[in-house]
Amino acid sequence: MSVIRAVVRGVGHYLPERVVPNSEFEKTLDTSDEWIRTRSGIERRHFAAEGETTSQMATHAARAALENAGLQPDDIDAIVLATSTPDLTFPSVATMVQAELGMTRGFGFDVQAVCAGFIFALTNANALIVSGQARRILVIGAETFSRIMDWTDRSTCVLFGDGAGALVLEARQGQGDSSDRGVLAADLNSDGRYRDMLYVDGGVSTTGQAGHLRMQGNALFRQAVGKLTETAEAALAKVGLSDADVDWLVPHQANIRIIQGTAKKMGLPMERVVLTIQDHGNTSAASIPLALSVAAGRGQIEKGQILVAEAIGGGLAWGAVVLRW
Ligand code: UT7
Repeated sequence: MSVIRAVVRGVGHYLPERVVPNSEFEKTLDTSDEWIRTRSGIERRHFAAEGETTSQMATHAARAALENAGLQPDDIDAIVLATSTPDLTFPSVATMVQAELGMTRGFGFDVQAVCAGFIFALTNANALIVSGQARRILVIGAETFSRIMDWTDRSTCVLFGDGAGALVLEARQGQGDSSDRGVLAADLNSDGRYRDMLYVDGGVSTTGQAGHLRMQGNALFRQAVGKLTETAEAALAKVGLSDADVDWLVPHQANIRIIQGTAKKMGLPMERVVLTIQDHGNTSAASIPLALSVAAGRGQIEKGQILVAEAIGGGLAWGAVVLRW
């Protein structure tokens, strides 16, 4: 049966120039490079320059993805952008990127599902393509988490970083089975009963301020491996695949021990897991498109391979997407 599939045509990313090694935090906090490395897997992260915004980083990533796809901004019908750190309360970052790219048609909107944001954005973009609403979509994850850190809280401020990644999805004909390229299945979840595990203590209708990130890291850690494995396997099952079919696990890069635990539960060796956490830290919704772009650049992921991307974050919200690259 002939179906429409949303196939990845291009990928790109942007990282701000400033690289901050773990040792920087030793100057101001009771922490150490050793603690950060062994507990999280993070060695360094990028922080946006003063005045550098989420929309600027997203625009750089979008341009890189367009160039990689061999397309112009006006070839794009829509921008779906995942972020929890927008430039302004509104308009959406997606419309800012649209203007920066010089796109004068189509539409753009933001998706907010915190660290799982890119999974939700990709699933929405896939639905827009499959339903015929758009033929080509820029799907972007972009974050400036450095702006919502409490720099006196050692249990959070050493973990996060800034950056942006983007994919160009394009409608192509498929046969309707797992041999097709493109997005094959998705699994989305949230459970607001866990909202206190990871949140920002400010907002428009409460304090009127952006606020700072608060996290019960250990409690969240205990939820993560089980939920991530379940959602990845649920997405695979929807298209008749199992863990053994996975060429690359592309996890949200929050903690190396969560990534290792998930890979182990899925029976995947670490050689089949894309890792960027050491260089980027946790970039929330940007982490999966950043990992995809870096892995494609390294020559790790190749056309035709089965990828599973998974993420969990504030909400809690979590999910997975299966795609053939
Ligand atoms: O992206 C959204 C999803 N986010 C996540 O999935 C994050 C999930 N959680 C984690 O990654 C981990 O829980 C952390 C890396 C945040 C923490 O690792 P942990 O093994 O769960 O440590 P912990 O929170 O149980 O803390 C252990 C100890 C505590 O000291 P005491 O109470 O045992 O004396 C902390 O105060 O480590 C202490 N600690 C630190 N020590 C040095 C916390 N942060 C630091 C630090 N440097 N930066």
